[in-house]
Amino acid sequence: MAPSPRDSVARARALVALKRVLAGGDPRKLSPAGAGGGLARNDLACESAAVAPNPVTAPPDRAPRDQRLRGEPVARSVFTGLPDRYDRLAYLLSFGQDRRWRRAVVGHAAAAAPRLVLDVATGPAGIALAVAAATGADVAGVDLNESMLRAGLPRIHRPLPAGRVRVAAGRADQLPFADATFDAVTFSYLLRYTDDPAATVAEMARCLRPGGTLACLEFNVPPRPAWRAAWWCYTRLALPVLGGLTGGPAWYRVGRFLGPSISAHYRRHPLAWHVAAWQAAGLTEVRTELMSLGGGLVMWGRKGSAS
Ligand SMILES: C[S@@+](CC[C@H](N)C(=O)[O-])C[C@H]1O[C@@H](n2cnc3c(N)ncnc32)[C@H](O)[C@@H]1O
Repeated sequence: MAPSPRDSVARARALVALKRVLAGGDPRKLSPAGAGGGLARNDLACESAAVAPNPVTAPPDRAPRDQRLRGEPVARSVFTGLPDRYDRLAYLLSFGQDRRWRRAVVGHAAAAAPRLVLDVATGPAGIALAVAAATGADVAGVDLNESMLRAGLPRIHRPLPAGRVRVAAGRADQLPFADATFDAVTFSYLLRYTDDPAATVAEMARCLRPGGTLACLEFNVPPRPAWRAAWWCYTRLALPVLGGLTGGPAWYRVGRFLGPSISAHYRRHPLAWHVAAWQAAGLTEVRTELMSLGGGLVMWGRKGSAS
């Protein structure tokens, strides 16, 4: 259906707002967004100074178990020291599965031939770049950690065959964009870190135009007992050691953090809960696909016209 003149005006305004927020593609140049906007200058400056105790090294009595595995301070501290080799090690430590999972997300986002896409928790912008390459769309990437964004800047600044990627520091639960701005929204490995995953999904759905696609990738706990046992051994025993050997102390800490974080997330929010949260946020035709024997979860849906 062709957009109405009113839609076109709203879209043009949203694009202007987007360009303002994503000025220059360099997080340093970003001004804090307005109401409900991105991170204040202060927050950027505090990235490493204001982090809570490391979730792995903090003594158990300093925070409730749950709070050591999620929330913004955790999301800030976990990624300190990771950015340099993030993509390569994520690939190695997932036995190459991670790239296959990402391709699936990109495929779902690309299916509707979007022109404007938002990738939330974009990190070094791997999915944002892949979506731009696959669709020619302009892609905005938002992430809490400026250091993760910076790791992607060399690739972002390289000329792309099509489309364009710009990144900004921002919180997934307070996106600095107008309602219904994007044709597709993607996110990956995000919800475990958020205090209120349902509100975060609703916030991302708010930025999606009716009919647009939301697609995501998350780790998952394999449902079959035998694979779950193997997954448990890998994440609790092998991952910290392999992480430490390949990436040093920061990756050792992440190796120790990941398994308990994934398990705790799905204890609180089983897969059916996620589907219900998406539906409550106005997504229809919500589908899930377990990847690699259930170690990965790809999920996608379309925003209904009534929301
Ligand atoms: C495991 S990394 C994934 C990065 C990227 N999506 C990828 O697949 O390569 C998770 C990312 O989520 C970001 N993050 C965590 N909580 C966030 C929040 N509330 N808002 C925005 N980004 C967040 C982290 O900074 C980190 O870059």
